[in-house]
This record gives sequence, C-alpha cells and structure tokens, in this order.
Amino acid sequence: MNICFLMYPWEDIDPENDTSLALIHECVKRNHGVALCSPANLTIRNSVTNAFCTVVNRMDKVSSSLKTFYKQATLREEMLPLAGFDVIFMRANPPLDPIMLNFLDSVKDDVFIVNSLQGIREANNKLYTAAFGDSHSNIIPATHVSKNKNYLVKQIKESASDKMILKPLNGFGGSGVILIEKSAMSNIKSLLDFYVTNSDGSSNYVILQEYIEGADQGDVRILLLNGEPIGAMKRVPGSDDHRSNVSAGGSVAKHTLTKEEKALCKQIGPKLVKDGLYFVGIDVIGGKLVEVNVMSPGGVTYMNKVYKTKIQCKVIDFVESKVLDQLEAFNRRSRLRNEVANA
Ligand SMILES: Nc1ncnc2c1ncn2[C@@H]1O[C@H](COP(=O)(O)OP(=O)(O)O)[C@@H](O)[C@H]1O
Ligand SMILES: [Mg+2]
Repeated sequence: MNICFLMYPWEDIDPENDTSLALIHECVKRNHGVALCSPANLTIRNSVTNAFCTVVNRMDKVSSSLKTFYKQATLREEMLPLAGFDVIFMRANPPLDPIMLNFLDSVKDDVFIVNSLQGIREANNKLYTAAFGDSHSNIIPATHVSKNKNYLVKQIKESASDKMILKPLNGFGGSGVILIEKSAMSNIKSLLDFYVTNSDGSSNYVILQEYIEGADQGDVRILLLNGEPIGAMKRVPGSDDHRSNVSAGGSVAKHTLTKEEKALCKQIGPKLVKDGLYFVGIDVIGGKLVEVNVMSPGGVTYMNKVYKTKIQCKVIDFVESKVLDQLEAFNRRSRLRNEVANA
C-alpha cells in the first residue's frame, strides 16, 4: 500500500512522543510506501490534485526504536498525484484549513481517508461535542458556546458553582483553557474581551463550560478505532496547572476503563463510525465527555510506554483491512461489468 500523511513537516516531529511517527514507523516496517505532505503543499495541475511530498525511502532494516528510525530514515522530495495513494491519514494540527478539504474532495472517492472529510468537517472543533444532542448533560458537561459577552457574563453570574472553564473553540494541547472563578469576577469582562474580540474587529466563539469536579485528579484519554476503545491512559496535571494535557505539563499513568467510561464509548461509538471518524481520541473527566479529538489524535506513544504495547499495529491493521475491502469491491464490480460486457 501507499500511504500519504497529511501533516506538519518531518522536521517538526517529536521523535520520542509523536503518534504520527509511530503510525509512519509501523507502515514502513510493513513495507508500505509512505509520503508526508503539509497542507500548504497541495496543488492542482491540469485537474489533478497533486501533493509535493516528502517520501520516506524504503529501508532494508527498520529499527524497532522510534528515535533511531527517525534518525536513520532518508527522505526525498516528489510531486505525486494524491489519487494514487491507497490511504490518506489526516494528521494536521487544528485549526482546520477548509480549503485543504476542498483539495481532498477531488480524491475522496478514490482514496480511503482517515478520518473522513465529512467527519472532519463536522467535528474539527469543540462544537461537535457541544451539539451532541445531550440536553440533560448526562454525557457532556453543561456547555455554552457563544460570542455574546453579555450572555456569557450572565451565565457565569448565574452559575451555581464558583468555578467554570473558558476555552477557545479551536484550541488544542490545552492552549487557552482557563479556569475562571466567580469570586474573581472583576477580571471576567476583560478576559471575555480578550477571547472574543480580535484587534481587527472580528470576533471568536468561546466555550464556557461547567467545571467538572475531580479534574484536578486528572482526565482520561481514550483512543477509539472504528468506534471501539483500543487504549486508555490517565493524564494528571502538574502541580501548578489545572490542565491535564501532556503538552501543558501533565503526566501519564495506566488506566483501566470504568463501567461508566465503557458505557460512554458504547454510546458514542456508532455515531463516530457513522460520521467517518475512525480514529479519534476522547478526553473524559468524571465519566463526562470533554472533547473529541479528530484532527491528529495523540497518546499512542505514551500508552505504548506505560503498557508496553504497540497500539499503532491495531490502527494499521484496520486501515489495511479497509483498503482490502475497497479493492475486493472494485474487483468484484470489474468482474461483473466484464461479464455483462462480454455477454
Ligand atoms: N469542563 C472542564 N472541567 C474541568 N477541567 C477541564 C474542563 N475542560 C477542560 N478541562 C481541562 O483542560 C484540559 C484541556 O481541555 P480540552 O477541552 O480537552 O482542550 P484541548 O483541545 O486544549 O485539549 C482537559 O484535559 C482538562 O484537564
Ligand atoms: Mg483535550
């Protein structure tokens, strides 16, 4: 198979902790062709969508260590037609560039894309969970999404709890996620000005969310493949931060899914699959769904370390079986067409 990773450049990879690299490594080990392309390097030439790619040269022997593989890999640059790949892995960091998806629309019937364009369009920011159809806040925390500052101030004032979470719609890695307290109300208008209103006069939606008690003990990252959990870990915030993201100083530990978390996965799994969200990372606190990461879900390398496992194998197994299914369907159709043509 040939697999294109639409992601940040090779030089930006963190060779120790990068989930994309773990997936690339597994593909190269299985002797699949691997190319990386950053969204800025898509072009259309004579109606064909091309990617100016960094191709990973095939290796006779692939080191089992991710760091060594990263060091030893040699690369070449090539312009390649996207429809010639069997799989495109969408691994770009948020925010989503909608134009990039328009480029990919032209190949979506030819190539298996993880996650599907439709799914990424629907779920690329935190509105996806906010609009989950959970009006009684059973699985998601009580959430407001708005850019109306008066409305937001009113919600904070009327909140039964002193603490709330404010975050941007498009952030990742914990960036901009802040804990606000009613007792420090004098800051809140200024904070909302900062979050909502840009210097050019444009404005942003923000998320105001119930603070889930127990978040100081950490959150749970669960990876779901085709709607089923394939790995989980606990992330505990550092002593001087309320956020559990590893990039914000959180540390990682083993975690066995609770009954509540298993039920949550069962409840949302079918919707994720229906939306073409085959490989996602969800963040759960106190059994409540805080975020569905669909753009470039991470955590594989950390889970591998704490569990001494190789989660990437399951992901590539799944992708291989999907491509095989597509190939079989294509061959069957060709056989039947030939049968009719030759009748
Ligand atoms: N409603 C909440 N209650 C308590 N803590 C929260 C809440 N929302 C976010 N956090 C903390 O902030 C972290 C980052 O929030 P998240 O919504 O996952 O955004 P990001 O995309 O930046 O990871 C979470 O992992 C959690 O530690
Ligand atoms: Mg998160």
